[in-house]
Amino acid sequence: MRPFDGRRVLLVVAGGIAAYKSVHLLRSLRSEGAEVEVMMTGAAEHFVGRVTFEALAGRPVHTDLWTRPLAHIELGRDCDLAIVAPATADLLAAMAHGRADDLASATLLAADCPVLACPAMNTRMWEHPATVRNLEMLTEDGVRLVGPEDGPLAEGEFGVGRMAEPEQIMSVAGRLLEVDSILGGRKVVVTAGPTREAIDPVRFLGNRSSGRMGFELAASAWRRGAEVVCIHGPATVPRPHGPKMIETEDADAMLRSLRTELDGAAVLCMAAAVSDFRAASPSREKIKKEDVDAEGFRLELERGPDLLVETKEQRESSNIFTLGFALETRDGLRNARSKLEGKGMDLVALNIAGSPGSGFDVDTNRITVLDPAGTVEELPLLTKREAADRLLDRIEDQLGDGS
Ligand code: CTP
Repeated sequence: MRPFDGRRVLLVVAGGIAAYKSVHLLRSLRSEGAEVEVMMTGAAEHFVGRVTFEALAGRPVHTDLWTRPLAHIELGRDCDLAIVAPATADLLAAMAHGRADDLASATLLAADCPVLACPAMNTRMWEHPATVRNLEMLTEDGVRLVGPEDGPLAEGEFGVGRMAEPEQIMSVAGRLLEVDSILGGRKVVVTAGPTREAIDPVRFLGNRSSGRMGFELAASAWRRGAEVVCIHGPATVPRPHGPKMIETEDADAMLRSLRTELDGAAVLCMAAAVSDFRAASPSREKIKKEDVDAEGFRLELERGPDLLVETKEQRESSNIFTLGFALETRDGLRNARSKLEGKGMDLVALNIAGSPGSGFDVDTNRITVLDPAGTVEELPLLTKREAADRLLDRIEDQLGDGS
């Protein structure tokens, strides 16, 4: 899958307990279509067996500088990205000082591809002035870093030093592998997930949106180098790593954040399932059973704000490219077209509610894309990740035509 498909990644595993997470990282890289060359330091083999990496990589693991004398030059030259995970204090020191006395350090010295280091060590080692100095040098040399995170450490201690999670490493690696995009450096605002409209302090009106489609759009735009702000309601799926995330609750709050964040934006992807209704007068106190008599009680609803309509002027005056969605049960094309025009969108992704493989609770989506020129593109059943990439490809094309 883009941007990993067919790319060559060098995974350097040094000797730390976090090496077990590198097994997951390798699996993710492979399942995204990357070819991975794994290199282990001698110390790494104390933590995870070579066979585990070999089985997942589908090729031998490199361990020794002298087995194939020029391997370090070839591997460093032929890869699109080198990931050092875990990057121990020792290997980071070797990298910072340009040492080349084992296969890992020699290869990293010879590498002319981007290098992503994922430090993992005890907090005291992480905070030691020597490590701080080495990290400064490495950053100056252009080495990218992800992590370490705060949390429980191997020795029963707590603190900064845990290696970043594989998902987070994958996001940053994806951004480093992404080729030039017209979205690079531009601000992209994405809305995602449901909104919650209070009925009383404990109850709300909501919907079944998981946030997945919006989060995939935010992640894909971020991988392409955009500055991404994702304004989201109470989503039920994991948040993407990389984009700035702003959590809101109801439609009014989402609108306030949206108005602020549209400042300086080039693109808006409006994937949130914003509630169209809300309680006309939400109760300040919890509604008690006794308040409801045998005939039940009526909850009076009123219309809430339509975020695309409310921001239409702002978007048009700032020339913000807008992708919106249309969720329909009938007359899909006609309704999507009228939303495209009425709400000031540049692209609309039509979803037919209830069509197989589409909907709130599934990982796939079947989308038809319409633009103001009347082009209708029916996409096949895709994962939401793939659908997000296709939509961003369309946005890139249309922005490219217009600039
Ligand atoms: N939208 C919005 N504000 C709302 C409702 C929807 O900005 N209060 C946005 C959605 O994020 C989506 C587009 O408008 O990008 C269309 O949403 P959809 O739910 O299909 O349509 P509605 O405008 O709510 O109309 P209806 O429910 O009558 O089909």
